[in-house]
Amino acid sequence: MAYNDFNMDSQWLPFTPNRSFMKNPRVFVAADGMEFTTHDGSKVIDGISSLWCVGAGHNRKPINEAIKKQLDTLDYSTAFQASNDRAFQAAEMIAAMAPGDLNKVLFCNSGSEAADTSLKLALAYHRARGEGHRTVFIGREKGYHGVGFGGMSVGGIPANRKAFSSALLPRVDHMRFIHDPVNNAYINGVEPVSQEDMLLELENRILPLHDPSNVAAIIVEPVAGSAGWYLPPQGYLKRLREICDKHGILLIFDEVITGFGRMGTNFGADFYGVVPDMLNFAKCVTNGVIPMGGVICRDKLYDTMMKTDAPPHVIEFFHGYTYSGHPVACAAAIATLELFQQDKLFARAGEMGKVLGNAFHSTFKGMPNVIGIRSLGLAAAVELAPIAGSPGKRAYDIFIDCFNNGALVRPAGDVLVIAPPYIVEKSHIDKLVNTLADSIRKHA
Ligand SMILES: Cc1ncc(COP(=O)(O)O)c(C=O)c1O
Repeated sequence: MAYNDFNMDSQWLPFTPNRSFMKNPRVFVAADGMEFTTHDGSKVIDGISSLWCVGAGHNRKPINEAIKKQLDTLDYSTAFQASNDRAFQAAEMIAAMAPGDLNKVLFCNSGSEAADTSLKLALAYHRARGEGHRTVFIGREKGYHGVGFGGMSVGGIPANRKAFSSALLPRVDHMRFIHDPVNNAYINGVEPVSQEDMLLELENRILPLHDPSNVAAIIVEPVAGSAGWYLPPQGYLKRLREICDKHGILLIFDEVITGFGRMGTNFGADFYGVVPDMLNFAKCVTNGVIPMGGVICRDKLYDTMMKTDAPPHVIEFFHGYTYSGHPVACAAAIATLELFQQDKLFARAGEMGKVLGNAFHSTFKGMPNVIGIRSLGLAAAVELAPIAGSPGKRAYDIFIDCFNNGALVRPAGDVLVIAPPYIVEKSHIDKLVNTLADSIRKHA
């Protein structure tokens, strides 16, 4: 099939330079395992789990079959004032996987909705316990929490905020970025050790400025994924937990990327040994096959919200989506989580992460323009010096070149990231890394 066999006049593509795309479209028509087929019959290895979603690889029959069966049994039912059996089952499985007393699951349909749900729940919880003045949110520079106004406001990627700055939430502040490009440029499979205390600014400037008693929640990704796989220094998340506890501030982990196996563990929370008050998830929970997101919250949030004097017919939390806990998405989630467990895919992700990290460091270190390499879990990033005056262009050109040579990698600024499905074999890693290396040389 040639791309001019179909009409491209109507779709406006998300987070894509549409003008360039239309001149040189990249269109998938099939996928299986680690590989896509494009419209012109080329094969492309999925080096990014299709935006960190497809942990179990493409076209997994148990997930497909579960979806088909669910469609023939209960296709959809209202999510408000009633529910469905699959939603309870999926919530039970998800809660059982989460650490500590993260026991209650609020479903939504995406990571952006999860961000907004968690921020709204933070406000509602504080209000319910008589601290409605806690309205300040704190995010972090280069954080990504999706594209809703809540998630965008606590997010810290400048390009995503620029055009919308006048409409962002008030009373939001941002902690400094976690990366030390001088001392921690090259990190292979370990937590970086920081020479300085990156949370001092939070304690000594940000919290006193707002007064900690006014702060509702701090939200962070355990590892900054969309920005380019930036790793928190050793002890950082534990200390963040302590600071939140000291001041009664809720800690939200946005685990849309780090959740469900990417770190070799159920969640980033398990990898780092820190239990947040809320944990946002999406993507891998259904292997990307059907949209689903959610927030897992600690018992104390649910219990507080239920301890209300309102009459029994009154809703406790005025929030939810038409498709919260959609039965087909829940059937996909149940089958996905069973498949992860049955094939021990999280442990495999941890193991293959070492192979990927070693390949990155042995191949890219010393290559032209390479100024950093970071790997941990099953993801690795190579950071390049930007072309003067054209930030992002070098990585974008390399991404296009890799695609044309059969490797889907992810550009983020001037960082290139590979985060393959957990079923990845060494041969795929070799192909992805070698293609990327050739392209980095070509664009030197
Ligand atoms: C950490 C994080 N939060 C939220 C989102 C937004 O998810 P979605 O695109 O499903 O709204 C993403 C997407 O990549 C993400 O990485």
